[in-house]
Amino acid sequence: MEVIKEKKKMREWSRAQRKAGESVALVPTMGFLHAGHLSLITEAKQHSTKVVVSIYVNPTQFAPGEDLSTYPRDLEGDLHKLKSLDVDVVFNPYDLYAHNGPEETPDVAKEAGSKKRNLPERWSTAAEQEEKKSQVADLQDSLEENLKPNGGMAVANMHDENKGRHETWIRVERLEKPLCGHNRPIFFRGVVTVVAKLFNIVEPDVAVFGKKDYQQWRVLCRMAQDLDFAVEIIGCPLLREDDGLAMSSRNVRLSDTERQQALSISRSLKEIEALVKMGEVDANLLVKCIIEKITAAGGKVDYAKIVEQDTLREVDKIKVPVVAAVAAHFGSVRLIDNVELQPP
Ligand code: PAJ
Repeated sequence: MEVIKEKKKMREWSRAQRKAGESVALVPTMGFLHAGHLSLITEAKQHSTKVVVSIYVNPTQFAPGEDLSTYPRDLEGDLHKLKSLDVDVVFNPYDLYAHNGPEETPDVAKEAGSKKRNLPERWSTAAEQEEKKSQVADLQDSLEENLKPNGGMAVANMHDENKGRHETWIRVERLEKPLCGHNRPIFFRGVVTVVAKLFNIVEPDVAVFGKKDYQQWRVLCRMAQDLDFAVEIIGCPLLREDDGLAMSSRNVRLSDTERQQALSISRSLKEIEALVKMGEVDANLLVKCIIEKITAAGGKVDYAKIVEQDTLREVDKIKVPVVAAVAAHFGSVRLIDNVELQPP
């Protein structure tokens, strides 16, 4: 298994593979891998002869105050898992947005012996501060934009050359707005842009994503379609722990109590799934069930919605395939989960 850190080398590797008649699948991740991530790799192997897994904690999808600096990391453990799955390449760039300075900079976290402090492994403090500054400015613009009578919803000003290092962003204008996009206005902009960059660097034939992040998967399918990326996008089922909790890198940040409380999310989804199977089609009533159950357990619901699977538009009655999607906070940890439902 090869670990590649430079964009140029990554692209050269991919092109050489394709020239030799191989096909390449890409599985983008932010690391701290669990069985949910690994299931995507197994799926990727069904669709291509070579598999690239990217590990990159993408700073632009975190707003100031979100958990960029505490996002769990364990590169060594990840590499170990990926090796045992016979992955061909791990693409682990230092900074995907840098084009002036060197892509490679010293591994600050390791040098400082700071693993215990959970510092980002390949993200220097100075770079992080710079990114934070840029994000604060973006967010302020975004808020100002919202206050304007004709302002679009949370459109960050992305066109000020002086602000950040990066000034080209992709937005999937409608699909990015509901659900997670509502309270995280710059999240999908960051996700979509970084995935497009990865597509351009790795040039995969296939890319595999999890339906755990249901809206992310839909938004990325749309981006690839709208921008004519020659990449087949595959969506994989959500994997759960034995007790039902959706697997997530963030689960390790839950206390034992929060971990127990968080089970209310999957339990509420299971409950409404059973109700729908018994003939219940009233989406508002089902959403109320979800919110009550999570709130009673001590969670703070960010959103609970029942939306059409393809358009993500909210429904009143379940007459077409829908997805019930939830985001809720337990302590400082924000979790998402969903269940696909067919009309009874
Ligand atoms: P990350 O949260 O690391 O997830 C990487 C991939 O694993 C995503 O496609 C996600 O949907 C999938 N995944 C996570 N938990 C899963 C589960 N329990 N079952 C099935 N699949 C699961 O999502 C991201 O990273 C980033 O936004 C990224 C796409 C890499 C862009 O930065």
